[in-house]
Amino acid sequence: MGSMKEAPLQGVGGLDLPVLKHYDIPFFGSLIPSETQVVQGRLNAIVVLHDDQGNEYVHKRRRNNIDILDHISEELRIIGFPALGGSFSFRSVAEESRFMNDAASIDLRVVAPVVVGPDFILLPFIEGKDLKDSLSVSDFDPLKHVLRDIFSAHSKGIVYGDRWPRNLIVKPDGTIIQIDFDLNIAGHYAKELELAQFLYGVIRDSADKKSAVANLLSAVPPQATQGYNLTIIERFMMKYAQGYHPQEASQDDTHIIMESLRLLVHGLNLK
Ligand SMILES: Nc1ncnc2c1ncn2[C@@H]1O[C@H](COP(=O)(O)OP(=O)(O)O)[C@@H](O)[C@H]1O
Ligand SMILES: [Mg+2]
Repeated sequence: MGSMKEAPLQGVGGLDLPVLKHYDIPFFGSLIPSETQVVQGRLNAIVVLHDDQGNEYVHKRRRNNIDILDHISEELRIIGFPALGGSFSFRSVAEESRFMNDAASIDLRVVAPVVVGPDFILLPFIEGKDLKDSLSVSDFDPLKHVLRDIFSAHSKGIVYGDRWPRNLIVKPDGTIIQIDFDLNIAGHYAKELELAQFLYGVIRDSADKKSAVANLLSAVPPQATQGYNLTIIERFMMKYAQGYHPQEASQDDTHIIMESLRLLVHGLNLK
């Protein structure tokens, strides 16, 4: 991977992995860190790099954060996923890149790797903002693209896993790209969990929750939810609202989120 001869740059994104002065990518070239910063997740160290023509890339490595396993397993236990026969596992970088290539090859809207290294993936840098940022300024237009893509993936037997609004990039033209496939969810209700996480995440992250419900309902294609167990989706969403993210919401927020989720499920049942 990148040359380790260089001293790490200090203080970038609070990473527990060094940010190097330059990255020698075998059979590709030498890249250097850009000024561009991203919101760091819990599992990966993400560094934006560029070549001497100014093309930008994302260098993604797993962090040394084994505690995240316990957090996710606790989250899913609280939601009730394993009790219904669900399971989860982490993808290695090799598995994640194979998953991206497979999904891209069947026309799903996923980022695909440029280079796969022994312990990193190099991705094209996708210009845009994440869906969470779009929702916070009430830009709901991307929802129809996302939902169409998730339903399409499920109909092709693919469950992305981890579809929280930060794992979707909205490009300047309004279309979307799915990123981040390090978490694999499987089992009988994996598709229900995926939709529940996404729908709940949209309501939670929208400043205007009433409009979020209306926009979600008009973005779900007719009959798209046939073949899903809506009772299970509702149950997962309510568990998230009640139990899992209380630290991010006041009592009032929780109440409004639950009311919005009820309206959403009611609307979905009528579709
Ligand atoms: N290809 C990409 N283009 C632009 N930004 C990206 C890309 N990949 C990741 N990011 C940014 O880095 C963040 C973390 O990357 P992600 O793959 O989601 O890893 P994590 O599992 O750590 O959340 C994303 O939320 C996004 O803002
Ligand atoms: Mg992520």
